[in-house]
Amino acid sequence: MQLTFTRTDPDFARELDAQDELAPFREEFVIAEPNVIYLDGNSLGRLPKRTARLLQQVVEREWGERLIRGWGEGWMETPTRLGAKIARLVGAQPDEIIVTEATSTNLFKLAVAALQARPDRTKIVSDAFNFPSDLYILQGIIDLLGNRHRLALVSSEDTITIPPEAVRTAIDQETALVSLTHVTFKSAFMHDMAAVTAQAHQAGALMLWDLSHAVGAVPLDLNGCDVDLAVGCTYKYLNGGPGAPAFLYVRRDLQTQLRQPVWGWLGSKSPFDFELDYAPAENIIRYQVGTPPIISMKALEPALDILLEAGIGRLRAKSVSQSEYLIFLAEQWLVPLGFTIGTPRQPERRGSHVSLRHPEGYRISQAMIEAAPPAVKVIPDFREPDNIRLGVAPLYTTFSEIHQAIDRMRTIVEERLYEHYSAEQLEIT
Ligand SMILES: Cc1ncc(COP(=O)(O)O)c(C=O)c1O
Repeated sequence: MQLTFTRTDPDFARELDAQDELAPFREEFVIAEPNVIYLDGNSLGRLPKRTARLLQQVVEREWGERLIRGWGEGWMETPTRLGAKIARLVGAQPDEIIVTEATSTNLFKLAVAALQARPDRTKIVSDAFNFPSDLYILQGIIDLLGNRHRLALVSSEDTITIPPEAVRTAIDQETALVSLTHVTFKSAFMHDMAAVTAQAHQAGALMLWDLSHAVGAVPLDLNGCDVDLAVGCTYKYLNGGPGAPAFLYVRRDLQTQLRQPVWGWLGSKSPFDFELDYAPAENIIRYQVGTPPIISMKALEPALDILLEAGIGRLRAKSVSQSEYLIFLAEQWLVPLGFTIGTPRQPERRGSHVSLRHPEGYRISQAMIEAAPPAVKVIPDFREPDNIRLGVAPLYTTFSEIHQAIDRMRTIVEERLYEHYSAEQLEIT
């Protein structure tokens, strides 16, 4: 895949699309409005056509006809079957991942388990780029455990990257847990998973990664990096649908050593014995709590199959090529208009979205979304204070879409079209 670019003409974007071996995968997705350029697959992935078909079958046949018998006909194994598929995307063993609940809830369970496994240590290391929910969960845990722990946040000096040296020095002999988001949600900065995990282990701490912005976008090797614990969401690059259940990973040897704090019947050894005293399952099942949402889980499976067919290596190569192309066009057309590139320049330190920053970022993003024909509508998202995030989802994003989107942003700023929009922010963008 091409990594350096010199041409800004639309024909060149079409040539890149014509050479793209992953282009046929776009056909797998519902593209309801062909004239809308969707660059928010990093927040909510598109709907696979196979999912739409499967859900109808699940509702009508499995639920409608089979009723309670469905639990004995594959429903109960769905969380671990899907976990085994996610394991192939993240370099884990099939029995090290389970699909369950929300990312925040899974983080709670695993972080408490980790802190209880290091009772003499009082420090949790994270960074100021972590997703707020992760930090809230950690703060809540500190409160719950009697304020014995403190949360040390490594900060950024350039508002784009977290200095690896600062992470290394923050992790010390007091540290019980290092909890970081691998690809950070604003700038797409990507930590060095192998290096940070090794530093945590060297200090005797446990390592917990949030993979929400990485899974399905960058190749991961949890086993190769000897990662202890991980969580991640499935509605972004995994295309599982709005509020799709999240996943968690616990390295095999830790599964029975750790105890998660929410003791539900479906995490117990033999739920259908209805024993009055809790005994946890001896495997990844112990990190489950209650009844899995089967319909939402089923929605995730075709999406995972498509990702596995495309192959994470090829997806990453296309994502890097498309992100480099996007940054190249932004440098040509947008930087002279007051934009800055809010994302690391080296691809190996970046996930699959690109942040472009402008003091009028919010109003520009509104002008992109609200455009009236014949102008093209572009859907990005906006993150405070000035980041327009453009998600590259290599399963369905085209080079021509990237070209049109950046061209449209240029027009919006050159013609000051954003001035027609209010700076008052809507809740969800
Ligand atoms: C990095 C990260 N962690 C956690 C979450 C929260 O996930 P959930 O709503 O499944 O708890 C998000 C949501 O976007 C996220 O981006």
